[in-house]
Amino acid sequence: MNFIPYGRQHIDRNDIDAVVGVLNTEYLTTGPMVTAFEEAIEAYCGARYVIAVSSGTAALHLASLALLKSGDKVLTTPNSFLATANAIVYAGATPVFVDIASDGNIDLDLCEQYLQEHDDIKAIYGVHFSGNPLHQAKLQSLRERYDIVILEDCAHSIGASNGGITAGSCTNSECSVFSFHPVKHLTTGEGGAVTTNSEELYQKLLLLRNHGIQRDGALWVNRTMAYDRKGNSNPWYYEMQELGFNYRITDIQCALGVTQLQKLPLFLKKRRHIAQVYDTAFKETPLIVPLYDFCEDSAYHLYVVTIAFSKLRITKAELFLKMREKNIGLQLHYIPINKQPYYTQRGYGNEDTPVMDAYYATALSLPIYYDLSHHEQSYVIETLLAIVNENS
Ligand SMILES: Cc1ncc(COP(=O)(O)O)c(C=O)c1O
Repeated sequence: MNFIPYGRQHIDRNDIDAVVGVLNTEYLTTGPMVTAFEEAIEAYCGARYVIAVSSGTAALHLASLALLKSGDKVLTTPNSFLATANAIVYAGATPVFVDIASDGNIDLDLCEQYLQEHDDIKAIYGVHFSGNPLHQAKLQSLRERYDIVILEDCAHSIGASNGGITAGSCTNSECSVFSFHPVKHLTTGEGGAVTTNSEELYQKLLLLRNHGIQRDGALWVNRTMAYDRKGNSNPWYYEMQELGFNYRITDIQCALGVTQLQKLPLFLKKRRHIAQVYDTAFKETPLIVPLYDFCEDSAYHLYVVTIAFSKLRITKAELFLKMREKNIGLQLHYIPINKQPYYTQRGYGNEDTPVMDAYYATALSLPIYYDLSHHEQSYVIETLLAIVNENS
């Protein structure tokens, strides 16, 4: 059996042709494919504005600069990739780590308790962990009752929905962010996007993506000729309005993004099917429990199980190594961010997060991706069950 990773991209002929096609055009960056990709995401998610950028981390950074100011306190989850919390720090704000609920998402009821007890919380940064979106009715209710900004990290959840609300539509948030890293549902190599329904945020994000340089029609007539504010022709002219960055994404990447997005319904269908097959396989095995009951609205970026290692004669590390010997790559999403040295050195790490702690001791992610064959998945299941049974 060839090595089976926990996740990987699917690239076909039509993706390759689209990328090669761009190489034969004038625009390798800041051209029509960027707009086409943004419009395709806009149509898919239903948000009014989309800004495609060079990574999910760049998307989080820009969104945080647009939403937060130095000293703001932000409730966030320990159960995410580092970038979610780091983006809060990039903006000079302070993450406050809140425990998770049993589905791996930030516990929104605990967030409400924080909001009741502290009047200086500016925002909630939640992650649609594993592709299972945050509870939208709860977000709506929090927004109605508290003066709070919401960011949804949808890096795992493109194509997911909750209560009929599509991930990334920003129905109950100021901004959503996506990542298009190869392990995600669709890839641009590296890449990301911010979606929002606010024109003001959109304009700010556009500036920040490109060094804070103003690029409106009044100033820019074509790619080489510009005018100053008095209408004088100054071919070299541009204005820096903000301290921005180069977080642009290329047309080469966006061409791939467009063809990948067209395949998203297929990708989702396959991932949900894989999740159902795992669910069925573990039904009679009380030692291996899926993180949540099958959720047809989850995008299933990850398939997470919890295993009762305290009842086994094998540790989690030993299980990882045994599976690796059988050519199966497991992964763990995630080491609690607040327990990372960078954060513990700054006073974090002792938060009251019993659910996250129990989760970390028991959870692991099994392979799930479009090209995982039925045969390969059966091999993963049989191998896992055999190791667990031998050690129980
Ligand atoms: C939940 C979450 N947020 C943000 C990111 C950052 O995205 P990127 O790797 O594209 O910078 C990731 C990527 O792993 C992620 O899983």
